[in-house]
Amino acid sequence: MTETTQTAERIMVALDYATAAEAERLLRMLEGIPCYMKVGMQLFYSAGPDFVRQLKERGYKVFLDLKMHDIPNTVKGGAESITRLGVDMFNVHAAGGKRMMEAALEGVDKALNGTGARPIVIAVTQLTSTDQTVMNREIGIPGTVEDAVVRYARTAQAAGLDGVVASPREVVRIKSVCGAQFATVTPGIRPAGSAIGDQSRVMTPAEAFAQGTDYVVIGRPITGADDPRAALEGIVASIHQA
Ligand code: C5P
Repeated sequence: MTETTQTAERIMVALDYATAAEAERLLRMLEGIPCYMKVGMQLFYSAGPDFVRQLKERGYKVFLDLKMHDIPNTVKGGAESITRLGVDMFNVHAAGGKRMMEAALEGVDKALNGTGARPIVIAVTQLTSTDQTVMNREIGIPGTVEDAVVRYARTAQAAGLDGVVASPREVVRIKSVCGAQFATVTPGIRPAGSAIGDQSRVMTPAEAFAQGTDYVVIGRPITGADDPRAALEGIVASIHQA
């Protein structure tokens, strides 16, 4: 496996599109680059499970980013259905609590029934679009974002999950508390010079990997670029240069 392939496999491209046709256009532009594909709620709610199955049939690794947050029994059922789709990774909100996260794993086990590869199950900690003011004043969680993220990560680990979604700024602390094997998936990634948009806690791809993150999630800097393929190749090159 080349260095480029290894790096590409740790880049998750956020397919934040309204239709399968638009996502397909990007897939064609990125053809041959073995990046992870992230399907979020916009595309899933329009293109549905069929699109996810097609991605898997075409050999892509798929992260289904539906951020489940509901009562444990409902999340268990959701996790069971998601696992049957054959995705490689999916997530729930850590704010749903330990029991809810355990229920997600029960749903996975029910779907697998002892056979097949278990998807990586991770928890969303604090969204990278929220800063401390929003967290304290609107959501009502006191303290720093970092402390809240670490608390969520500990709870996710205690529930048996494989890792968390967090800002790259929190990776070092998460790894020091939960161990190097506990996976971190980090959105809020902006290559030097690209627009921040609605993200608030951002880092460049190379900086995020230098922090020890396992996967970076990148959406608009690739999907919104004039030349998405060149943007992705530029990101891979910037990681190697660092
Ligand atoms: O376009 P951009 O690079 O900001 O896209 C980031 C992607 O990561 C989006 O699909 C968003 O839903 C997702 N995400 C996030 N923050 C989280 C979890 C997921 O931005 N905490």
